[in-house]
Order: sequence, then C-alpha cells, then structure tokens
Amino acid sequence: MKRLILATILSVAVAAPAMAGGDWVAPVKDPLTLKECGSCHMAFQPAFLSADAWRKMMSNLANHFGDNAEMAPDKVSAITQYLTANAGGYRRGVSDSKITDTAWFARKHRKVAPEVWTRKDVMSRSNCPACHKQAEQGLYDDD
Ligand code: HEC
Ligand code: HEC
Repeated sequence: MKRLILATILSVAVAAPAMAGGDWVAPVKDPLTLKECGSCHMAFQPAFLSADAWRKMMSNLANHFGDNAEMAPDKVSAITQYLTANAGGYRRGVSDSKITDTAWFARKHRKVAPEVWTRKDVMSRSNCPACHKQAEQGLYDDD
C-alpha cells in the first residue's frame, strides 16, 4: 500500500515539470512518428495526452477525427509504443482523445478571444504552430 502511494506521488512529481511549469514539453524525437503523424498536422507531443488516450486513438486510425489515418500494423504498434512510453502522467477525463478538448487546454487559452480560433491563418484549435511558432520544438511560452 505504501509503495502504491509513493508511486502515485512520484508520477505526479514527474509529470509536473512538463505541464505545470506549463510552457514546454519534450519535442517528438521518433522519426517514424514525426513522419506518419506530422503529415496532416504537426506531430503532437506525446506528453499532451495520457497513455490510455493515445492507445484508444491509435486503435482506431481509420476513424481519426473525420479523417482516415490508417497505416500498416507494424507502424501503428511502433508509434503506439513511442506515444505511450512518453505520454503525460495524468488523466484529463476526456473520452475522445483531443488535446484541445481538455480542461487544461481551455484553461491555458481562456484569454484567447473566440473569434481568433476561426481566423483564416488559424482555422483550428489543433493548429498549434499558427500561434506557437516553435510548437514543433515543444515551446509554447512565446505568446
Ligand atoms: C490523413 C491525415 C492525418 C494523419 C496521417 C494523422 N492525423 Fe491526426 N488529425 C487529423 C485531422 C483532420 C485532425 C482534426 C484536426 C482539427 O480538428 O482541426 C486530427 C487530430 C489529431 C489530434 C487531436 C488534436 C486536437 O485538437 O487536440 C491528435 C492528438 C492527433 N490527430 C494525433 C495523430 C497521430 C498520433 C497521428 C499518427 C499516428 C496522426 N494524428 C495522423 C488528420 C491526420
Ligand atoms: C489562436 C492561437 C493559438 C492556437 C491555435 C494555440 N494556442 Fe496555445 N496559447 C495561445 C496563447 C495566446 C496562449 C497564452 C495565453 C495566456 O497567456 O493566457 C497560449 C498558451 C499555451 C500554453 C501555455 C504556455 C505557458 O507559458 O503556460 C500551452 C502549453 C499551449 N498554449 C499549447 C498549445 C497547443 C498544444 C496547441 C495546439 C493543440 C495550441 N496551444 C494552440 C494561442 C494559441
């Protein structure tokens, strides 16, 4: 029991610097993930979602937010491995695996005026690099 509590405290402590510090996450280093998950949008950093959320998303790539992102099973399993190994250490309580649907995302962006999201040069909340020029390097504190 003690060990379980300690493990919980440790995982919170490890997750904290990446997120609570708030402004950056480790960039994606895996070449396969960069290639396969960076062709339609930037390759989102694994720390933004929980391992469960990544697993769920990777198990249904044919139905990927209205798009078909299917790929060979060996790629799926290698990428899933990478994403889950580097996932964020805490749960966000959302079912559809969107980073931009999380309470955390809403909180960080509460000062962004609603009309900004639909601007031509932005188009979507998922378009992190439209506003965070160094998003792919994991830098988000450039506002
Ligand atoms: C065929 C194009 C395509 C490929 C390939 C693709 N995606 Fe996506 N992805 C999309 C679209 C379209 C959206 C929805 C974007 C939006 O809502 O503006 C999306 C959204 C996402 C989101 C949610 C972003 C948010 O708003 O929070 C994540 C996370 C994501 N993709 C991860 C991945 C991963 C991981 C891979 C590689 C296994 C991948 N994607 C490959 C098209 C693609
Ligand atoms: C319309 C422009 C816009 C888009 C698109 C956008 N952001 Fe932001 N983001 C901002 C602004 C502006 C802030 C600073 C808000 C503030 O200071 O209150 C911010 C803050 C953040 C922060 C907190 C930085 C800190 O220093 O605490 C993170 C992390 C972040 N965004 C990640 C993302 C991710 C990941 C995406 C894509 C899934 C994204 N953002 C998409 C405008 C945007």
